[in-house]
Amino acid sequence: MDASQKKRDSAKAAMELIEPGTTLGVGTGSTVNYLIEMLPEIRDKIDRVVSSSEASTALLEENGFEVSSLNEVGDYDLYIDGADESNKHLQLIKGGGGALTREKVLAAAARRFVCIVDDTKLVGMLGSFPLPIEVLPMARELVSRRMLKMRGQPIWREGFITDNGNHILDVHDLQISNPLEMEARINRIPGVVTVGIFAHRPADILLIGGDNGVREMRI
Ligand code: 5RP
Repeated sequence: MDASQKKRDSAKAAMELIEPGTTLGVGTGSTVNYLIEMLPEIRDKIDRVVSSSEASTALLEENGFEVSSLNEVGDYDLYIDGADESNKHLQLIKGGGGALTREKVLAAAARRFVCIVDDTKLVGMLGSFPLPIEVLPMARELVSRRMLKMRGQPIWREGFITDNGNHILDVHDLQISNPLEMEARINRIPGVVTVGIFAHRPADILLIGGDNGVREMRI
């Protein structure tokens, strides 16, 4: 089975966790796009929607949803998003699509965070996927130098500007054996807006699409 079918299956499984009256947070990426395209089937169950990116907002609107701002909504029920990697503690690397800052904010405000992935994303140790870091443009070289000191190889995602007007560094060759510590350490570098390690706020439920259906992991 190809990865896109596995992504579709995990998105379908997440639909079943949406209860009537839900305020739903929507992540960003190809897996979430499958979810957004299925959401009209259960639109009666959805009270309000908040979005993690301009791209997801546009697709939600195309599918007939009006998107609320997080400031209006406050803490809310359920956030569904993909990931680039997950370990068995449901600590994640996110930001392959560059939407990590708003994704982290939406994950923080959600009472429940469901992560939808295909089975290639489950790893023993985070870090094979280059770690995205959103940085202020004027701090890009400073953060790059600090990442070199941490034995990472930062590559500027040239030509890409985030929805917040910032730059992304993709940091290769990091072995993230302690995601909580690494997240806190990178967050302390001046000019870092968001690091794509989601360990302080991991997912609550991981839905993994595979050849034999969807497997669920919880913490
Ligand atoms: C975007 C993300 C995505 O969730 C992540 O990149 C996974 O994407 P996809 O569902 O396309 O595999 O963090 O910033």
